Amino acid sequence: MPPSPLRTLASRLFAAAALLLPLVAAQTACNGHEEFCSRSYSNVSIIGAHNSYGVRAGSIAANQNYTVETQLDDGIRLLQVQGHMNGDELHLCHTLCLLLDGGTFTSYLSTVKSWLDSNPNEVVTILMVNSEGISPTVWAQSYKDSGLDSYAYTPSSTPVAYSAWPTYQELIDAGTRVVSFLAQNADTSSVPYLLDEFTNVWETPYGQTDNSFPCTVDRVTGSSDNKMYLVNHYLDVNQTILGTTVPVPATSSLEETNAVNGTGSLGAQAETCLAQHGYYPTFTLVDYYDVGNGSVFEYAAKLNGVAYTPVEIGNGSSSSSASSGSSSGNDSSASTDSGAAGLSAQAGLAAVGALGALFAAWAS
Ligand SMILES: *[C@@H]1O[C@H](CO)[C@@H](O)[C@H](O)[C@H]1NC(C)=O
Ligand SMILES: *[C@@H]1O[C@H](CO)[C@@H](O)[C@H](O)[C@H]1NC(C)=O
Ligand SMILES: *[C@@H]1O[C@H](CO)[C@@H](O)[C@H](O)[C@H]1NC(C)=O
Ligand SMILES: *[C@@H]1O[C@H](CO)[C@@H](O)[C@H](O)[C@H]1NC(C)=O
Ligand SMILES: *[C@@H]1O[C@H](CO)[C@@H](O)[C@H](O)[C@H]1NC(C)=O
Ligand SMILES: *[C@@H]1O[C@H](CO)[C@@H](O)[C@H](O)[C@H]1NC(C)=O
Ligand SMILES: *[C@@H]1O[C@H](CO)[C@@H](O)[C@H](O)[C@H]1NC(C)=O
Repeated sequence: MPPSPLRTLASRLFAAAALLLPLVAAQTACNGHEEFCSRSYSNVSIIGAHNSYGVRAGSIAANQNYTVETQLDDGIRLLQVQGHMNGDELHLCHTLCLLLDGGTFTSYLSTVKSWLDSNPNEVVTILMVNSEGISPTVWAQSYKDSGLDSYAYTPSSTPVAYSAWPTYQELIDAGTRVVSFLAQNADTSSVPYLLDEFTNVWETPYGQTDNSFPCTVDRVTGSSDNKMYLVNHYLDVNQTILGTTVPVPATSSLEETNAVNGTGSLGAQAETCLAQHGYYPTFTLVDYYDVGNGSVFEYAAKLNGVAYTPVEIGNGSSSSSASSGSSSGNDSSASTDSGAAGLSAQAGLAAVGALGALFAAWAS
């Protein structure tokens, strides 16, 4: 007896569904991994680009080789920036816009917005250093002007305990794929999505010139209990410029610093942290994430207990050498760029008397 038409149809549908399953699964991966979908935001370790906008070949004030678009393409999911007022515009600059001007925050966020538009299963975190104490409403204006506010995550109450963060799938389903922290001067009663960093996150010490990278609680508001944490894993070296000692990225040690294991490596610090605090960091901030050819992402995969799939790092034309045409940099001072020599020769810089104060926040 031949199978009933209904049965045939059912079995065909079943076969079709089985064929489609892997495709659906691939599409529903969260930040590239299906495993992350059901995990809470706090329980997935991501890599951050320290001074993400700080792209300038040869400049000692730079911290990255590639622009934010390439950073995101390569797997960076935490973007750390520093904001300063340049006239009446909020710019991303390292300590002083004269040293390194990464363009307007609005322009930077517009690039992030476009990237998120074309990558619907990705969650990105933005950490804003606000040493000038610029009003959250000014920061928020750039979110509005770029349209990124439409992706901003607002928790029902803040601070959010480690265990209370939503899952990746929840963030993606709600379309709230941007988690934002302001390091200073947050005010969630005026801008609910610009969360206060240090009541939600604690940090290890920054500006380290010794590769032992301790995992002590350095900056936090209140207790570090039940909070996510950020590891500052970038090595500096003291350099004397115009008689002032300035910490600059220890570029000759980058291979070891960005390595998965070994002395001074990412892995070594994470194990120190695990031993001391009982859980892994949610955020790890690095300089020149590309050096090591993906080792920083291999480290994250290891912490997350997922397979590491190498991708070509720095693919694309948005390296610092492509400067003026790059999508995120609006480097008005690019013409004065000739590395450290150009920097110290800058008349404006020499005119600034209080070099100590100028560089005080340098390493942050
Ligand atoms: C996620 O949580 C599990 C269970 O507590 C833990 O074993 C794992 O190390 C955590 N992963 C990260 C990256 O926090
Ligand atoms: C880039 O900088 C120039 C000069 O300051 C300004 O006129 C222009 O609007 C800026 N463009 C963006 C995209 O920020
Ligand atoms: C670099 O300078 C800082 C601040 O002056 C100091 O604490 C640190 O020990 C110095 N590091 C080295 C390796 O000399
Ligand atoms: C990235 O920057 C580091 C540090 O300055 C340098 O050693 C490396 O050659 C750069 N890589 C590229 C591709 O520009
Ligand atoms: C790093 O880990 C790999 C694989 O586990 C091992 O073969 C290698 O010896 C380790 N390197 C260091 C410097 O510990
Ligand atoms: C970097 O990694 C990619 C992906 O694994 C690989 O194709 C490439 O050959 C590597 N480049 C170097 C210089 O090791
Ligand atoms: C490099 O980028 C091009 C253009 O975006 C893309 O077609 C290609 O697949 C990428 N290659 C790798 C190895 O990621």
